[in-house]
Amino acid sequence: MIKVAASILTADFSCLLQEVKRMELAGADWLHIDVMDGCFVPNITMGPPVVRSLKGRVNLFLDVHLMVQHPEAFLSDFRQAGAQLLTVHAEACTHLHRVVQMIKKSGCKAGVALNPATPLHCLKYILPELDLVLIMSVNPGFGGQDFIPGVLPKIKALAEKREKEKLFFKIQVDGGINEQTAAEVVRAGADILVAGSALIGATDPAKMIKAMKMQL
Ligand code: DX5
Ligand code: ZN
Repeated sequence: MIKVAASILTADFSCLLQEVKRMELAGADWLHIDVMDGCFVPNITMGPPVVRSLKGRVNLFLDVHLMVQHPEAFLSDFRQAGAQLLTVHAEACTHLHRVVQMIKKSGCKAGVALNPATPLHCLKYILPELDLVLIMSVNPGFGGQDFIPGVLPKIKALAEKREKEKLFFKIQVDGGINEQTAAEVVRAGADILVAGSALIGATDPAKMIKAMKMQL
Protein backbone atom coordinates (compact mmCIF):
# COMPACT_ATOMS: atom_id res chain seq x y z
CA MET A 1 0.00 0.00 0.00
CA ILE A 2 1.44 3.36 -1.06
CA LYS A 3 1.65 5.99 1.68
CA VAL A 4 1.65 9.75 1.24
CA ALA A 5 3.77 11.95 3.51
CA ALA A 6 2.65 15.57 3.37
CA SER A 7 5.54 18.04 3.52
CA ILE A 8 4.67 21.29 5.25
CA LEU A 9 7.69 23.17 3.92
CA THR A 10 5.60 25.40 1.66
CA ALA A 11 2.63 25.71 4.05
CA ASP A 12 1.51 29.01 5.56
CA PHE A 13 3.29 28.88 8.93
CA SER A 14 0.98 31.48 10.44
CA CYS A 15 -1.69 28.75 10.53
CA LEU A 16 0.44 25.64 10.61
CA LEU A 17 -1.89 23.47 12.69
CA GLN A 18 -4.77 24.26 10.37
CA GLU A 19 -2.65 23.36 7.34
CA VAL A 20 -1.55 20.10 8.96
CA LYS A 21 -5.16 19.23 9.88
CA ARG A 22 -6.13 19.91 6.26
CA MET A 23 -3.56 17.32 5.14
CA GLU A 24 -4.74 14.84 7.76
CA LEU A 25 -8.36 15.21 6.70
CA ALA A 26 -7.35 14.85 3.06
CA GLY A 27 -5.96 11.38 3.83
CA ALA A 28 -2.21 11.91 4.26
CA ASP A 29 -0.58 9.09 6.23
CA TRP A 30 2.55 10.82 7.45
CA LEU A 31 3.62 14.37 8.23
CA HIS A 32 7.02 15.11 6.67
CA ILE A 33 8.93 17.78 8.55
CA ASP A 34 11.87 19.29 6.68
CA VAL A 35 14.62 20.49 9.00
CA MET A 36 17.29 22.67 7.37
CA ASP A 37 20.32 24.27 8.99
CA GLY A 38 21.58 26.79 6.42
CA CYS A 39 24.81 24.79 6.24
CA PHE A 40 24.11 21.37 4.74
CA VAL A 41 21.49 23.08 2.54
CA PRO A 42 21.16 26.75 1.63
CA ASN A 43 17.98 27.34 3.65
CA ILE A 44 16.83 27.42 7.29
CA THR A 45 13.50 26.05 8.46
CA MET A 46 12.30 24.57 11.73
CA GLY A 47 13.53 22.67 14.78
CA PRO A 48 12.26 20.52 17.67
CA PRO A 49 9.80 23.14 19.04
CA VAL A 50 7.70 22.84 15.89
CA VAL A 51 7.57 19.04 16.20
CA ARG A 52 6.71 19.36 19.90
CA SER A 53 3.85 21.73 19.21
CA LEU A 54 2.31 19.37 16.65
CA LYS A 55 2.77 16.17 18.66
CA GLY A 56 -0.50 14.85 20.03
CA ARG A 57 -2.55 17.39 18.09
CA VAL A 58 -2.58 15.44 14.85
CA ASN A 59 -3.01 11.80 14.12
CA LEU A 60 -0.16 11.48 11.63
CA PHE A 61 3.14 9.60 11.82
CA LEU A 62 5.84 12.22 12.46
CA ASP A 63 8.55 11.82 9.84
CA VAL A 64 11.51 14.18 10.39
CA HIS A 65 13.91 14.76 7.48
CA LEU A 66 17.13 16.20 8.85
CA MET A 67 19.00 18.22 6.23
CA VAL A 68 21.66 19.27 8.72
CA GLN A 69 25.36 18.79 9.34
CA HIS A 70 26.19 16.80 12.49
CA PRO A 71 22.65 15.42 12.89
CA GLU A 72 23.83 13.35 15.88
CA ALA A 73 23.75 16.53 17.95
CA PHE A 74 19.98 16.88 17.53
CA LEU A 75 18.62 13.33 17.55
CA SER A 76 17.53 13.16 21.17
CA ASP A 77 15.89 16.61 21.03
CA PHE A 78 13.79 15.55 18.05
CA ARG A 79 12.95 12.21 19.64
CA GLN A 80 11.82 13.91 22.83
CA ALA A 81 9.81 16.38 20.78
CA GLY A 82 7.84 13.49 19.28
CA ALA A 83 9.61 12.41 16.09
CA GLN A 84 8.82 8.80 15.14
CA LEU A 85 11.21 8.47 12.21
CA LEU A 86 14.49 10.33 11.90
CA THR A 87 16.12 10.45 8.49
CA VAL A 88 19.68 11.71 8.15
CA HIS A 89 21.67 12.37 4.99
CA ALA A 90 24.51 9.98 4.20
CA GLU A 91 26.42 13.00 2.87
CA ALA A 92 26.19 14.73 6.26
CA CYS A 93 27.47 11.84 8.40
CA THR A 94 31.13 10.93 8.79
CA HIS A 95 30.09 7.97 10.97
CA LEU A 96 26.83 6.96 9.37
CA HIS A 97 26.61 3.59 11.11
CA ARG A 98 27.03 5.20 14.52
CA VAL A 99 24.34 7.79 13.77
CA VAL A 100 21.90 5.07 12.65
CA GLN A 101 22.57 3.14 15.86
CA MET A 102 21.95 6.30 17.89
CA ILE A 103 18.61 6.83 16.16
CA LYS A 104 17.51 3.27 16.84
CA LYS A 105 18.64 3.45 20.44
CA SER A 106 16.53 6.57 20.89
CA GLY A 107 13.44 4.54 19.99
CA CYS A 108 12.86 6.12 16.56
CA LYS A 109 12.76 4.39 13.21
CA ALA A 110 15.94 5.10 11.24
CA GLY A 111 16.15 6.42 7.70
CA VAL A 112 19.02 7.50 5.47
CA ALA A 113 18.60 9.97 2.60
CA LEU A 114 20.66 10.20 -0.57
CA ASN A 115 21.00 13.31 -2.71
CA PRO A 116 20.37 12.88 -6.44
CA ALA A 117 24.09 12.57 -7.25
CA THR A 118 24.91 10.14 -4.43
CA PRO A 119 25.20 6.51 -5.54
CA LEU A 120 23.47 3.65 -3.76
CA HIS A 121 26.66 1.78 -2.99
CA CYS A 122 27.43 3.98 0.03
CA LEU A 123 24.57 2.12 1.79
CA LYS A 124 25.82 -1.35 0.91
CA TYR A 125 26.91 -2.35 4.42
CA ILE A 126 24.16 -0.59 6.31
CA LEU A 127 21.00 -1.46 4.36
CA PRO A 128 19.96 -4.32 6.69
CA GLU A 129 19.95 -1.85 9.61
CA LEU A 130 17.61 0.65 7.99
CA ASP A 131 13.87 1.11 8.27
CA LEU A 132 13.78 3.50 5.33
CA VAL A 133 15.87 4.84 2.46
CA LEU A 134 14.92 8.28 1.20
CA ILE A 135 15.80 8.91 -2.43
CA MET A 136 15.90 12.65 -3.09
CA SER A 137 14.40 13.52 -6.45
CA VAL A 138 15.44 17.18 -6.16
CA ASN A 139 18.52 18.73 -4.62
CA PRO A 140 17.46 19.39 -1.02
CA GLY A 141 16.86 22.90 0.23
CA PHE A 142 13.61 24.14 -1.26
CA GLY A 143 10.08 23.09 -2.04
CA GLY A 144 8.56 23.53 -5.47
CA GLN A 145 11.49 22.29 -7.56
CA ASP A 146 11.21 20.11 -10.65
CA PHE A 147 11.49 16.33 -10.32
CA ILE A 148 14.82 14.91 -11.58
CA PRO A 149 13.95 11.88 -13.78
CA GLY A 150 17.55 10.62 -13.57
CA VAL A 151 16.79 9.19 -10.09
CA LEU A 152 14.28 6.66 -11.46
CA PRO A 153 16.94 4.02 -12.24
CA LYS A 154 18.29 4.49 -8.72
CA ILE A 155 14.87 3.77 -7.19
CA LYS A 156 14.50 0.73 -9.42
CA ALA A 157 17.95 -0.60 -8.53
CA LEU A 158 17.23 -0.12 -4.82
CA ALA A 159 13.89 -1.93 -5.05
CA GLU A 160 15.58 -4.82 -6.90
CA LYS A 161 18.33 -5.01 -4.28
CA ARG A 162 15.73 -5.11 -1.50
CA GLU A 163 13.97 -7.98 -3.15
CA LYS A 164 17.15 -9.90 -3.98
CA GLU A 165 18.55 -9.54 -0.46
CA LYS A 166 15.16 -10.04 1.23
CA LEU A 167 15.41 -6.77 3.13
CA PHE A 168 12.55 -4.82 4.68
CA PHE A 169 13.34 -1.11 4.47
CA LYS A 170 10.78 1.21 2.90
CA ILE A 171 11.65 3.36 -0.11
CA GLN A 172 10.60 6.98 0.21
CA VAL A 173 10.94 9.52 -2.60
CA ASP A 174 11.04 13.27 -1.96
CA GLY A 175 10.96 16.23 -4.31
CA GLY A 176 8.80 17.34 -7.22
CA ILE A 177 6.12 14.70 -6.58
CA ASN A 178 2.77 15.32 -8.24
CA GLU A 179 0.22 12.96 -9.79
CA GLN A 180 2.39 12.32 -12.86
CA THR A 181 5.75 11.84 -11.16
CA ALA A 182 4.06 9.77 -8.43
CA ALA A 183 3.11 7.22 -11.08
CA GLU A 184 6.71 7.02 -12.31
CA VAL A 185 8.30 6.58 -8.88
CA VAL A 186 5.72 4.01 -7.78
CA ARG A 187 6.40 2.01 -10.95
CA ALA A 188 10.11 2.20 -10.13
CA GLY A 189 9.49 0.78 -6.63
CA ALA A 190 8.69 3.62 -4.20
CA ASP A 191 6.45 2.92 -1.18
CA ILE A 192 6.17 6.35 0.43
CA LEU A 193 5.69 9.56 -1.53
CA VAL A 194 6.60 12.91 -0.01
CA ALA A 195 4.45 15.62 -1.53
CA GLY A 196 4.87 19.27 -0.65
CA SER A 197 3.91 22.13 -2.96
CA ALA A 198 1.65 20.02 -5.21
CA LEU A 199 -0.43 18.95 -2.22
CA ILE A 200 -0.38 22.17 -0.21
CA GLY A 201 -1.41 24.13 -3.30
CA ALA A 202 -4.04 21.66 -4.50
CA THR A 203 -7.65 22.80 -4.53
CA ASP A 204 -8.69 19.25 -3.71
CA PRO A 205 -5.83 17.59 -1.78
CA ALA A 206 -7.99 14.56 -0.92
CA LYS A 207 -8.47 13.82 -4.61
CA MET A 208 -4.75 14.23 -5.22
CA ILE A 209 -3.76 11.92 -2.36
CA LYS A 210 -6.24 9.31 -3.55
CA ALA A 211 -4.83 9.50 -7.07
CA MET A 212 -1.25 9.23 -5.80
CA LYS A 213 -2.10 6.15 -3.76
CA MET A 214 -3.77 4.43 -6.69
CA GLN A 215 -0.76 4.76 -9.01
CA LEU A 216 0.89 1.68 -10.48
C1 DX5 B 1 13.29 19.50 -0.19
C2 DX5 B 1 12.46 18.85 0.88
C3 DX5 B 1 11.16 18.31 0.41
C4 DX5 B 1 10.22 19.36 -0.12
C5 DX5 B 1 9.33 18.73 -1.11
O1 DX5 B 1 14.54 19.78 0.30
O2 DX5 B 1 13.16 17.77 1.46
O3 DX5 B 1 10.51 17.52 1.39
O4 DX5 B 1 9.42 19.95 0.85
O5 DX5 B 1 8.58 19.73 -1.68
P1 DX5 B 1 8.00 19.59 -3.15
O6 DX5 B 1 7.02 18.46 -3.10
O7 DX5 B 1 7.41 20.91 -3.41
O8 DX5 B 1 9.19 19.28 -4.04
ZN1 ZN C 1 12.01 16.34 2.73
